[in-house]
Amino acid sequence: MTLPNYDTIVVLDFGSQYTQLIARRMRELGVYTEILPHSIPLSELQLRKPKGVVLSGGPMSVYESDSLNLPADFLEWQESRSIPTLGICYGMQLLAHVLGGKVLAVTNREYGLQTISVLEGSQLLEAVRKKSQVWMSHGDQVQALPPGSRVIAKTSTCPVAALESKGRGICGVQFHPEVHHTEGGTDIIRAFLFDICGCSPTWQVSNFIDQTVAELKSTLGSERVLMGVSGGVDSTVAALLLQNAIGGQLHCVFVDNGLLRTGEVEEVRANLAPLFTNFHFVDATEIFLQRLQDIVDPEEKRRIIATAFIEVFQQKASELSRSVGDFTYLGQGTIAPDRIESGVTSSASSHIKSHHNVALPETLHLKVIEPLQLLYKDEVRRVGEELGLPSSFVNRQPFPGPAMAVRIVAPVTTDRLRIVREADVILTDELKRAGVFGDFWQAFAVFLPVQSVGVMGDSRTFEYAVALRIVESEDAMTARIAHLDWDLLERTATRIINEVHGVNRVLYDLSNKPPATIEFL
Ligand code: XMP
Repeated sequence: MTLPNYDTIVVLDFGSQYTQLIARRMRELGVYTEILPHSIPLSELQLRKPKGVVLSGGPMSVYESDSLNLPADFLEWQESRSIPTLGICYGMQLLAHVLGGKVLAVTNREYGLQTISVLEGSQLLEAVRKKSQVWMSHGDQVQALPPGSRVIAKTSTCPVAALESKGRGICGVQFHPEVHHTEGGTDIIRAFLFDICGCSPTWQVSNFIDQTVAELKSTLGSERVLMGVSGGVDSTVAALLLQNAIGGQLHCVFVDNGLLRTGEVEEVRANLAPLFTNFHFVDATEIFLQRLQDIVDPEEKRRIIATAFIEVFQQKASELSRSVGDFTYLGQGTIAPDRIESGVTSSASSHIKSHHNVALPETLHLKVIEPLQLLYKDEVRRVGEELGLPSSFVNRQPFPGPAMAVRIVAPVTTDRLRIVREADVILTDELKRAGVFGDFWQAFAVFLPVQSVGVMGDSRTFEYAVALRIVESEDAMTARIAHLDWDLLERTATRIINEVHGVNRVLYDLSNKPPATIEFL
């Protein structure tokens, strides 16, 4: 991975549900922030040349024998280089514990909003009102301060709600400044970033574009880059950055796998072809559909689709190499959460679904170039808008690589594809008419291989069911079902049953993630 050339803050993750939020808040304030596992070797952390380190909250207690600890030699390095370090909740308790203070479990646990009293004279809390409401969530407390530090805020039941040890650049808060409910939370984060760490707010969309394009130019020189574009936001934005950097040395390939939504192939071709000097379209519908016949198992479907894609792509790559010359690089639209999901930063992630197509660069013997690897989805969208993509395009709902194959809970056939596509069009249409389509992370139809009895006119029917899946989410790691208006749901279901031949029942999926996943397969 190329390391970013921005003032950087590292957040060491001790397992808090708010860790991502800390990074997001800091990035929103213009400072590049990267989350790393607490167990990362110190040398890896040092490579980032952080201007400051944040220790996140976490569910453990520092006095438990298996509690999570700092990277080996962290404290010596932090002290010798005077790296400002902010502990949040567990992070503060850990600092207090390892620096010689005392942390104990208390009977007066604090959850939810509490009022802190801020003491005079700390840089961290300078802009916070004397009495402020903050978000607390802890059962342990710092009871005795480590030598050389002092209390800078307290509550009626928590004697050390915030502390600092100015001499060694350490500060900590027992509450969560990253949570929206904490009054003055943004001021605290701002004070840490700019006053204490001395960061400059260089993490801005326009800076990112200029720096990335310049870096791509210097890395790629006169080499050729091949890139698969899916019509999704990530691959399009990544390809646009490459196009801006190397123009005609980039060749984009769009493969129609026969599994896309109604009208999508035409739409993608119309939208994308004009943006790129070299845009190649490959119709591989037959290959994919033929290989998917009889396949029920979702991972098998994904494997077949990935393999077929590699073959088709490889064939196109050889054809292009013969006509325009060899390629050195493969462009990919990987973003930061893809790296988290595929286990780069999290040791806890288990294999649920194979989302990522890792075999392509090895098969093609190409080096990988990933212009978006530092970004989160909302940042990719802002970059896309800045590069001139219409807002309707950058705000498209995510669509899985295996497309409709994971929305047909049975072997894929042309008739089932028709059913799921037609139902999807009706759902989208009704949500758009009601003006709510943009409110959801994803909204789609799923074909269920369940035949049940119905009555249409005077005849008995024995036909299939369609499920509607509509969820709200921040990042797809968790999702909550949309609380849709009943009339809207009923109207949609009635239209699907009337207009989609072969369906006589529509179900609304009421499962949150976890424990369900967003897609059915
Ligand atoms: P799940 O179903 O795991 O989905 O809750 C989380 C997000 O990932 C998308 N998804 C995929 N994307 N290839 C992809 O590129 C896949 O195989 C795949 N499976 C799920 C899903 O649409 C949701 O946004």
